[in-house]
Amino acid sequence: MTLAGTVTMVTGGTGQVGRVVVRRFAEQGGRVIVPYRNPAKWEELRAWMGALAAQVDGLPADLADQTAVERAVAQALARHGQIDHLLCLAGGFASGRFLDVGAEQWDQMLALNLLPTVLVLRAVLPHFVERGRGRAVTIGARQALEPSAGAAFYAASKAAVIVLTQSIARELRGTGVTVNCVVPSTIDTETNRQMMPKADPTKWVKPEDVAALLLFLCSPEAEAINGAVIPIYGKL
Ligand SMILES: NC(=O)c1ccc[n+]([C@@H]2O[C@H](COP(=O)([O-])OP(=O)(O)OC[C@H]3O[C@@H](n4cnc5c(N)ncnc54)[C@H](OP(=O)(O)O)[C@@H]3O)[C@@H](O)[C@H]2O)c1
Repeated sequence: MTLAGTVTMVTGGTGQVGRVVVRRFAEQGGRVIVPYRNPAKWEELRAWMGALAAQVDGLPADLADQTAVERAVAQALARHGQIDHLLCLAGGFASGRFLDVGAEQWDQMLALNLLPTVLVLRAVLPHFVERGRGRAVTIGARQALEPSAGAAFYAASKAAVIVLTQSIARELRGTGVTVNCVVPSTIDTETNRQMMPKADPTKWVKPEDVAALLLFLCSPEAEAINGAVIPIYGKL
C-alpha cells in the first residue's frame, strides 16, 4: 500500500506506540503531522526517524486545550492542504482502587484519555465531512471491555472513548467518513517492561502490530468498516 499524497495526523505521535505508527505511515510514503506538547520529545522523534523525518511535521499543542487543538488543526490544513487520516493515540494509563481515587484524579484521567480524543475529532471531522472522505481511528484498551479490580477510572475513560467512537460513526453514516476504535491489550513498550519485569513480553501486542492495524483501517480495503471496535490482544 502506498500513502504517497496522503496526510495523516497522529496524536500521541511522540509516544512509545505513536512513534512506531508515525514511522510506518512515513515508510509508506505519506506525510505525517504530529501535534506535541513536549519539544524535547518531538526532537527525539525526529532524530529517531532518521531520513524519514523530512516527511513529518510537528505542531506544538496541548491536546486538552480546545483553542490549542483548533489552532494546530488550522495550521496543519494551511501547511498541507488536507488531512486524510486522523489517528487519536494520545492518552495514558494509571491504576488506583475506586475508593482511593478522588475527583481531581478522575478529572486528570478524563483529560488524558477522553478530552484530547473529543477535541481533535471535533476539530478534524468537519474537514472530513466537507471532503466526503476521511478515516479516523481512536484507541481504547482491553480494560474497557474486560475491566479488572483497580482499573475503574482508567477503564471508564477508555470505555468513554469506545462509545464516543460508536456514536460518532452512526452520525457519520453515508458521509464517506469512517471512525473506528482499536482496543489493545498490553503493548510491548519500555514502560510496561519496567512496570512488569516478571511478565513475558512475547505475549504482548507489538507496537508494529498496532501500526499494521491502523494502516489497514486507512486503506481502500477498509472503506466499508465504520464504528468497529477491534480487539488486538496479542497472545494474551
Ligand atoms: N501501552 C499499552 O500497553 C497500552 C494498552 C492499551 C491502550 N494503550 C493506549 O495507547 C496509547 C499510546 O500508549 P503509549 O504506551 O504509547 O503511551 P505513551 O508512551 O505515554 O504515549 C502517549 C502519548 O500521548 C501524548 N499525550 C498525552 N496527553 C497529551 C496532551 N494533552 N497533549 C499532547 N499530547 C499528549 C504524550 O505526550 P507526552 O510525551 O508529552 O506526554 C505521548 O506522546 C494511549 O492512548 C494508551 O492509553 C496503551
